[in-house]
Amino acid sequence: METYIYAWLLVILTATAPVVKGKYYSDSQLIDVPTTMKETHLHFFMHDILSGDNPFSVLVAKPNDTVVQEGNPVPFGAVYVFDDPLTEGPDLESKVIGNARGLYASVSRGSDATLLLNGDLEFTSGEFNGSSISVASRDPLVLIKEVAVVGGRGKFRMAKGFSLLNAIFFNTTSGDAILEWNVTIFHP
Ligand SMILES: *[C@@H]1O[C@H](CO)[C@@H](O)[C@H](O)[C@H]1NC(C)=O
Ligand SMILES: *[C@@H]1O[C@H](CO)[C@@H](O)[C@H](O)[C@H]1NC(C)=O
Ligand SMILES: *[C@@H]1O[C@H](CO)[C@@H](O)[C@H](O)[C@H]1NC(C)=O
Ligand SMILES: *[C@@H]1O[C@H](CO)[C@@H](O)[C@H](O)[C@H]1NC(C)=O
Repeated sequence: METYIYAWLLVILTATAPVVKGKYYSDSQLIDVPTTMKETHLHFFMHDILSGDNPFSVLVAKPNDTVVQEGNPVPFGAVYVFDDPLTEGPDLESKVIGNARGLYASVSRGSDATLLLNGDLEFTSGEFNGSSISVASRDPLVLIKEVAVVGGRGKFRMAKGFSLLNAIFFNTTSGDAILEWNVTIFHP
């Protein structure tokens, strides 16, 4: 832990040191990396609702001539932006503990419908209030899958990990989904 703090101190000092005239970069420094990390598990539900008057997920782009409609909400090339509540329980009425904001695109030309999911999931309560995890991953449209956690902010700065996702509700007509997230992250 101490080693890690010194390493960060070095990074911070380097980052704030005046840049040598005529250079946009500092000399690279060798640093000690932490030999131990913390492992944290998160468990929550994400509500990705496309239907209704106040959807959490909206279509922003699609290829010309591609039809986006009920029963086919994510044809190849469709891009959605989302701001989904994260709740403690599977019910949308249960305690909201954060929000997932980002975008997903339908990226498979085949029958194996697949999204590319890019988002920042920020927590708004408890120990990790204000911290977030970043997800950038292939997301096949199957009930159980795994997505990659590529980083984070706040207490999850420099995090790496993965999440198992379980679609506990999926309406194939509207595309509405409730996803259970079981996240495992390793962070300093
Ligand atoms: C989009 O499709 C419509 C209908 O086929 C066509 O009139 C229009 O020119 C197309 N737009 C572009 C940018 O290809
Ligand atoms: C979370 O943090 C924000 C910003 O610091 C603060 O305003 C809010 O009261 C906190 N919420 C909880 C539940 O701790
Ligand atoms: C997530 O974890 C819960 C509680 O441990 C478990 O009941 C559930 O089956 C897990 N789901 C997935 C998709 O890993
Ligand atoms: C699924 O979505 C369709 C279209 O929005 C709706 O008519 C239907 O009631 C929904 N089914 C469930 C189980 O929510």
